Amino acid sequence: MTNAYDLAYRRSIENPAEFWAEAAREISWYKTWDRVLDDSNAPFYRWFSGGIVNTCYNAVDRHVENGRGDQAAIIYDSPMTHTVRRLSYRQLRDRTARFAGVLAGLGVGKGDRVIVYMPMVPEALVAMLATARLGAVHSVVFGGFAANELATRINDARPKVIVSASCGIEGQKVIAYKPLLDHAIELAEHKPDHTVILQRPQVEASLTPGRDLDWEEAEAKATPHDCVPVAATDPLYILYTSGTTGQPKGVVRDNGGHMVALKWTMSNIYDVKPGEVYWAASDVGWVVGHSYIVYAPLLHGCTTLVFEGKPVGTPDAGAFWRVIAEHKVQTLFTAPTAFRAIKRDDPDALLLKNYDLSHFRTLFLAGERSDPDTLQWAERHLRVPVIDHWWQTETGWAIAANCMGLHAFPVKHGSPTKAAPGWDVQVLDEGHHNCEPGKVGALVVKLPLPPGTLTTLWNADQRFIDSYLYEFPGYYKTADAGYIDEDGYIYVMSRTDDIINVAGHRLSTGAMEEVLASHPDVAECAVIGVHDAMKGQLPLGFLVLKAGVTKSHDQILKEVVALVRERIGPVAAFKTATVVKRLPKTRSGKILRGTMQKIADHEAFKMPATIDDPGILEEIEEDLTAIGYAKAREETA
Ligand code: COA
Ligand code: AMP
Repeated sequence: MTNAYDLAYRRSIENPAEFWAEAAREISWYKTWDRVLDDSNAPFYRWFSGGIVNTCYNAVDRHVENGRGDQAAIIYDSPMTHTVRRLSYRQLRDRTARFAGVLAGLGVGKGDRVIVYMPMVPEALVAMLATARLGAVHSVVFGGFAANELATRINDARPKVIVSASCGIEGQKVIAYKPLLDHAIELAEHKPDHTVILQRPQVEASLTPGRDLDWEEAEAKATPHDCVPVAATDPLYILYTSGTTGQPKGVVRDNGGHMVALKWTMSNIYDVKPGEVYWAASDVGWVVGHSYIVYAPLLHGCTTLVFEGKPVGTPDAGAFWRVIAEHKVQTLFTAPTAFRAIKRDDPDALLLKNYDLSHFRTLFLAGERSDPDTLQWAERHLRVPVIDHWWQTETGWAIAANCMGLHAFPVKHGSPTKAAPGWDVQVLDEGHHNCEPGKVGALVVKLPLPPGTLTTLWNADQRFIDSYLYEFPGYYKTADAGYIDEDGYIYVMSRTDDIINVAGHRLSTGAMEEVLASHPDVAECAVIGVHDAMKGQLPLGFLVLKAGVTKSHDQILKEVVALVRERIGPVAAFKTATVVKRLPKTRSGKILRGTMQKIADHEAFKMPATIDDPGILEEIEEDLTAIGYAKAREETA
């Protein structure tokens, strides 16, 4: 029998314009679109061209006008500072309007960029929404990136203003942000005109007169600014993500299509109603944070949770259960790694017994492959559906999911279920032919992509084409490999490029190699992602030293670890490297990273036919064994 998912899916593929035009009625438009799907400049497809909107109006003001003024828009829960604070939709509107006034006073207008480098505090959302209110473009940079990475983004986005805070709090550590920001501005060629700094009581940032403003003072003095109408196709934000080199990709999201898609997902994928409490335990610096801490829940009139804490250690592995119980969270979205961390500390979920979770309905997981063990552990203890779904920074929302608001399919562990409406997902082999069910190939999506997905890369149209559209003409390359089974369930197995996934964070091994190669004693290097029981993967470096180097290997290894932390940041979690005599390569000189990874993880591998010198693999195995890899390892999570 046909179910609501099948109907929606078929309509979305056969008549996408009609399907998304219907969804667009949920959004308030200053002027409706001329064309739902504008293919006049394909492959740069545009959604709702001719439409005029404002994202902040739809996420905030509209709800105040429609009677949600007193409902909490944001609940801020910080076990780090022992704070719980609620911001109603009215308060959020007033603060956002005033902060938009601050930005406008600093010369920010339509199309200008604002970088947001903030910890998980409500002001991060205020800064993003205020930027959107002005029709300007925000670019949020995750706090765990180093000054050098921030500088790269400053140079690419060329912001007028940077909004930051005096510090972030990570477990027991207070991390002063302002020195990092000052250093980044020093390193960058582009200089912002101003910064606005939120002073937190834990650390007082020193401000440069004339350039740096104190947030509180500036907000108190500012005149509220109204929403600025923008084209639906205008950019709302740039979010940088790891590519295969040290130059990150600036994913561009529009205003109109983004709102339509995200609002639609709240009812149809997450099965959430306006007024409910929705929690994405992520960070505003990641795409999950953009879509599901900020925009989707607010567009839907939900209460969103801003949690400044960790799944474990703040204070214990019951932190998630406490937040769910205390704030009546109906839906939680997080990365499997968070649950692996909880499972490691409290294997029998004994802490759950202290909390009433009777109102809790669904757990959604994404960001990395959901290992069946962790998923089943969560099912067993929470006794609610645990839904894996697959997406990427580029896509902004789920490519594949069990769409709980349409039809709950039986869960198959290891699969994020079926392609979501709007996504024509196919598996192609090397000859670009469709693979039969069950056969692994490249996961691709037939163009055009649905609304809410990337429109291009910032200032890099050609890189957008080269990265995503070139290899499989007519399709978007996800750079994930996988298969689809007879029932249409998708299985995502691994990346086809050098991206690794560490604790749900996407990292480029290429970027780390660039850092290692810059060390004066290193002749050649490689970085691979090896299996880690808690974080999914961890980076592991291999160094070939220059002839005549006399410094101790230990010293060099310490230096390269420190260098990656300094240049990329603690988020890279680069802690282990080893010195090897040679790297295994193909006859054409390509480093065999895939084979090295299999050896490190003690997996079976086929000797590559094109290998130059098979003997090197034995050397690598010996070196890896010496540091605890290349043999069966005990799982610790
Ligand atoms: N600002 C500054 N530093 C940060 C940071 C931030 N916002 N976020 C992380 N870091 C630091 C950490 O303190 C750590 O530093 P250390 O090397 O000095 O210990 C380092 O970056 C690595 O962080 P992470 O890989 O996150 O490891 P962790 O041990 O701190 O935490 C988890 C591990 C699993 C608990 C944590 O990653 C987590 O909760 N992940 C799930 C949720 C999530 O964020 N998903 C992302 C997308 S859905
Ligand atoms: P990011 O851009 O940081 O969201 O990372 C996207 C990548 O994470 C994808 O290309 C996948 O490799 C991986 N990923 C995300 N969600 C899933 C999932 N549910 N199952 C398998 N892999 C996933």
